[in-house]
Amino acid sequence: MIFDNTINKSTSIISYALCNMERKAVYPGSFDPITNGHVDIIERGLKIFDRIIIAVLENPKKQPLFPTKERVRMIQDIFLEQKRIEVIAFDGLLVDFVRENSATIVIRGLRAISDFEYEFQMTLMNRKLNPDIETLFMMPNISYSFLSSNLVKEVCMLGGSLTDLVPAEVENKLKKSIQRTHL
Ligand code: PNS
Repeated sequence: MIFDNTINKSTSIISYALCNMERKAVYPGSFDPITNGHVDIIERGLKIFDRIIIAVLENPKKQPLFPTKERVRMIQDIFLEQKRIEVIAFDGLLVDFVRENSATIVIRGLRAISDFEYEFQMTLMNRKLNPDIETLFMMPNISYSFLSSNLVKEVCMLGGSLTDLVPAEVENKLKKSIQRTHL
C-alpha cells in the first residue's frame, strides 16, 4: 500500500512537470528581410509552442542587405506585443544554438518541392550533429508559397509593389535601404 502511494506520488510529480514544461522551438533563418511568409509560419508555430526563439543568422560569408542588428530589430518591432517571441542573433552551428537555448525543436517553412532537397540535407546534417534535435516543417498559406526575401528585394529594386509581401515596417526600411545602395 505504501509502495502504491509512492508510485502514485511520483507519477503525479512527473505528470505535473510534463504539463508545466514549456514547449519551446527555434525558428532559424537569414530573414534578410523577414517576409509575410515568415510571419505566417511564426503565427502557426505559436499555436503549437509556448515560446518561439527566432534565430537570425549572422553570417560573415553572406553579404546581407540589412546588418544583423537591423534584421533583429525589424522582427522585434513586428512582434512587439507578442511576449512569447524572442529574437536572438546567432553564428556558428544551429544545433549548438538550439542546445544552448534549452530547445530541441527547429521549425522550418516549406513552400514548395523545390525547397525540399536543401531542407532535407540540412535536417539530416543537423540530426547527425545532434540526434536529440528534431526539425518540424510547416507549410505557409498558399498565397505565400512563391515568396522569398530575395524576390522581395528584387521587386523593390525594380520599383514593384510590396503590398502583401512584407510587413509595413519592413516595406519602409526596404525602400530606404535600396534607395541608399543605388544612389
Ligand atoms: O533563411 P535561410 O537562409 O534559408 O536559413 C538558413 C539557416 C540559417 C537555417 C542555415 O544556414 C543554418 O542553420 N546556418 C547555421 C550554420 C549551420 O548550422 N550549418 C550546418 C547545418 S546544415
